Amino acid sequence: MTDQAIQLQDVVQRKAAHLGVRGEEWVAGLPGLVEDLARTWSITVGPPLSGGTTSYVAQARTADGQNAVLKVAVPEHDFGGQVRTLLDADGHGYVRLLAHDIDRHAILMEALGQPLEDLDVSPEDKIATLCTTLRRAWQVPRPPGLTLDPAGEKARGLAELVNTLWERLGHPCSERVVVQALTYAERRAAAFDLDRALVVHGDPHPANTLRVLTPRPGAESGFVFVDPDGFLADPTYDLGVVLRDWCPQLLAGDAPALAHHYCALLAGHTGLDEQAIWEWGFLERVSTGLYALSFGADELGQPYLDSAELLV
Ligand SMILES: Nc1ncnc2c1ncn2[C@@H]1O[C@H](COP(=O)(O)OP(=O)(O)O)[C@@H](O)[C@H]1O
Ligand SMILES: [Mg+2]
Repeated sequence: MTDQAIQLQDVVQRKAAHLGVRGEEWVAGLPGLVEDLARTWSITVGPPLSGGTTSYVAQARTADGQNAVLKVAVPEHDFGGQVRTLLDADGHGYVRLLAHDIDRHAILMEALGQPLEDLDVSPEDKIATLCTTLRRAWQVPRPPGLTLDPAGEKARGLAELVNTLWERLGHPCSERVVVQALTYAERRAAAFDLDRALVVHGDPHPANTLRVLTPRPGAESGFVFVDPDGFLADPTYDLGVVLRDWCPQLLAGDAPALAHHYCALLAGHTGLDEQAIWEWGFLERVSTGLYALSFGADELGQPYLDSAELLV
């Protein structure tokens, strides 16, 4: 049963609207879907949680009185990678999964606490915690059957996205920025090595990094990740995603010096290649900015593009 009327955050509404009829149907069917999941999983659904951009997330309580969290994602991407990664991780570096329904893009998870994003600590401290948590998450075994056609490798996909969206959106950033992003994409694609690839998180930003409510094995940093994409890539990809953020800091200061400082910290904490992290970070900054603009989230996307102009 559900205690609350379904309320979607603005940004989730826009994401769904962007999908056209499929998104509209998803929004219309959501109350019924949540009711159904509540019945199937014997949970009571409580108030919604904010912080995501592509899902309905709400507190829940299991039949035996345990706190849990329900997530139903907008049917935009394949949800199988998320479920498979959480199952394989079994709580190590990631949230524990209590139930899942891949076809309906739904999971029931262990309840976690405060996001790293909301902690009043420096970017340097957040970067250190993200790196410790990532190093744990990267230990999730690579499933034997999981492989990747080099043509489906992440850098190529991002290059295509940047190219397409830059044209479709009428050149919302400078050509210099786009050329730099595409050059880096080519270099990352050329460097791709399936043997060195790991199951990466794919979007390890501080809002996807949550405190565990009680210390437990697998959460040695005190935090675990939610919301993994879980695909094969070089681990420097995840660090590039971490470097992509910090727009307020970059826009308020000496952007290149600060970004290189964060990049050096990411390399130092993990022993991974600083130049590779830099290139992924720039490519992610530009592709994320364009992607957010493409579904009308300008307030989200513009700072990424503005900061990219300062770094090119
Ligand atoms: N297991 C959980 N416990 C507590 N809060 C959660 C949990 N899972 C998600 N959240 C909250 O909901 C937000 C959105 O969840 P997330 O899985 O990241 O969805 P999205 O795909 O929309 O980003 C998170 O940023 C976090 O604040
Ligand atoms: Mg998220």
